[in-house]
Amino acid sequence: MRRKICVVCLIGLLLGAAGCGEVTEPDLSAYETAGPAQIPAEQESGEAGKYVALTFDDGPRGDTTARLLDGLKERGAKATFFVIGEQIAGNEELIKRMAEEGHQIGNHTYSHARLNSLDQDRMLEEIHKTEVLLGEAVGERSVWLRPPYGFIGKDRAALVKTPMIYWSVDPKDWKLLDTGKVIDAVLRDVEPGDIILLHDFYATSVDAALAIVDTLQAQGYRFVTVEELFRLQGIEPKAGVLYARPDKAREMK
Ligand code: NI
Repeated sequence: MRRKICVVCLIGLLLGAAGCGEVTEPDLSAYETAGPAQIPAEQESGEAGKYVALTFDDGPRGDTTARLLDGLKERGAKATFFVIGEQIAGNEELIKRMAEEGHQIGNHTYSHARLNSLDQDRMLEEIHKTEVLLGEAVGERSVWLRPPYGFIGKDRAALVKTPMIYWSVDPKDWKLLDTGKVIDAVLRDVEPGDIILLHDFYATSVDAALAIVDTLQAQGYRFVTVEELFRLQGIEPKAGVLYARPDKAREMK
């Protein structure tokens, strides 16, 4: 629709000017056909639903974790770090960076303990000590647990007051120690919604992780924290449940 309007006449009337004279009507059609506001580029990139979560265990470690954080920042990728409590001392700046740069920080116990073989008090202490150290570094927050080796029994799990995160893609990077093989193993198995297990403790795993981000981002994937992965899928994570993915709980024995 092309609206016929004399803008100058209107302005003239508003200003109380007498007469309008002969004016050319402005063409307002461009304003009427502009359509809805443009979608920002950041919302256009990435196909709907192609989200994955990278998770890194056994850090922080000065050189490798810092390099990983640099690489993730450059790529606009978020990740989740399940840290070991006894490695926090001396690496507080890395923990602060994780929080400041939008990553999720999780608990991988204080001494990488096999929780299913400890008595209850020792088990709770392993979890609590890391929570306290993280609270000191970045403030009180809900810190989800990843039991080392994924080991935790049903009875012990019932004592855990946060959700627990297992994984759905495991390239065994700690065993391969080979960047190319780790990349291949992840790219072969990954699907939207997956939680990928890696270790920021190894340089080969850091190199692999950044290459995986580059390849999958080019395919439309986006890298989010585990917490965000649950939120995007509309799933409310429950305390004491061990999740392989937001939509798949793992049976505990
Ligand atoms: Ni571990």
